[in-house]
Amino acid sequence: MLNRFRHFIFAVIAGLCLSASPCRAQQAPPQTAKAEHGLQKAQDPWWKHAVIYEIYPRSFQDSNGDGVGDISGITSRLDYLRDLGIDAIWISPMYPSPLVDFGYDISDYTAIDPLYGTLADFDRLMSEAKKREIRVIMDFVPNHTSDQHPWFKESRSSRTNPKRDWYIWRDGKAPGEPPNNWQSWFGHSAWKFDPATNQYYYHHFYTEQPDLNWRNPQVPKAMYDAMRFWLKRGVAGFRIDAVSRLFEDANLHDDPILPGKNAYGDPNIAHKYTDNLPEVHEVLREMRRVVNEYPGNPVLISEADEPNIAELTKMYGTKNDEVQLPMDFQIADVNKLSAPDFRRLLSEIDENAAGGQPHYFFSNHDQPRQWDRYGDGVHNDQIAKLMAALLLTTRATPLMYYGEEIGMRTTDPVRKEDVQDPIGIIGWPQEKGRDGERTPMQWDASKNAGFSAAERPWLPVPASSAASLHCEMDVICHSIVKMHSCCPFYARDQAVAMRFWLCLT
Ligand code: GLC
Ligand code: CA
Repeated sequence: MLNRFRHFIFAVIAGLCLSASPCRAQQAPPQTAKAEHGLQKAQDPWWKHAVIYEIYPRSFQDSNGDGVGDISGITSRLDYLRDLGIDAIWISPMYPSPLVDFGYDISDYTAIDPLYGTLADFDRLMSEAKKREIRVIMDFVPNHTSDQHPWFKESRSSRTNPKRDWYIWRDGKAPGEPPNNWQSWFGHSAWKFDPATNQYYYHHFYTEQPDLNWRNPQVPKAMYDAMRFWLKRGVAGFRIDAVSRLFEDANLHDDPILPGKNAYGDPNIAHKYTDNLPEVHEVLREMRRVVNEYPGNPVLISEADEPNIAELTKMYGTKNDEVQLPMDFQIADVNKLSAPDFRRLLSEIDENAAGGQPHYFFSNHDQPRQWDRYGDGVHNDQIAKLMAALLLTTRATPLMYYGEEIGMRTTDPVRKEDVQDPIGIIGWPQEKGRDGERTPMQWDASKNAGFSAAERPWLPVPASSAASLHCEMDVICHSIVKMHSCCPFYARDQAVAMRFWLCLT
């Protein structure tokens, strides 16, 4: 059985490799290809040859025993990241926040939440990371603020407040009826009635995350200034959250209803009038101009689950003047181990009309971990290694999620009362929320897997940590060797791949 499986794995890898255009390089003798690779690397911007690693700060390393990870915890693990071969870390939001969406509801864009530390801790992280040649990428959330942000507090205070138009306020269609049928990504109507001023505000995500009005010129100005605040502190760029949702149809057309219902019991809907409006690209061009004001080739990474290659290509900009690394959700959303699907999507993006750099990932803080997603229940370890080979050996810039390197598993809560992520409460039991992919990093076999000295960390360390701490050397080793010999030009010389290869934990 294992042999049959091995053959299958080789067929997947070889199929991908032989069909994808990068393998044209296999014609070059390995030495020349290697030298060319080195030369190319010296000329290219850093992000083309980087391995990026996402840190969910609540769950990476707790330094003060309160059960929640923090900045000093990250700093204390920089040596580990350097040894793993990581070139840049993207840290999910650490800004002050009421934490309804665990930081994606920001109440101040230019500060650090005390839960994670101070600006001084952040500056120390920056300088320690620099010593190890690790760049730091901030998460940036331009679509919405927290309802506790002073801007929104002002905005909701009266219809004539100068910040009223910083958010999207509309009259209801009729008494008790929202302005139209738009739905929140997190379930139910996207409009929340505010009795104080008798109008509704729009929120694409939780009700506590009102959408900013990007058509008001003061909003982009304030947001670009927030970006500059962090660029001046030396960050290497931003991962831009939910960027395709920045604009909504000004005429409030109803979204088309689709057959069936979603996990929240609402009719399915096409987000035609609230997603991917063309104005998004003007903003991306402007954001690119902002980062270009700073040295060191800062990078923009976009979170936008583009539905097809044409939309994904647009994110690079017609003159390569928008996002350098649009996350490829098409690949991340292939939820089965399918060589033809991966082959088609890898080729499509590899040949994208903009000539942009592909950017792949499989897991993140919203996306169940790949160990389970692609695993067949019997060979999950081997399949996880295969996915690692796939991620780390193409010419794309790979994006890893903490714990991926040790085969961490998704561990959903089993009781509704244990759920932390509000969508898991709204959608229980069909939608269990995202706690499962956010459990603490597993460092060693000590208490709470070395994550925290607290009695109860904010999410439990699952019993499976014992297994993920012992990865065994198997099929992946051979797969990566094959990949290296097939595509020497594109094979990564990163220590990360080697670490997977040797299965050192
Ligand atoms: C993005 C984030 C997700 C968050 C949402 C709203 O999709 O990745 O975690 O809940 O935006 O900010
Ligand atoms: Ca802490």
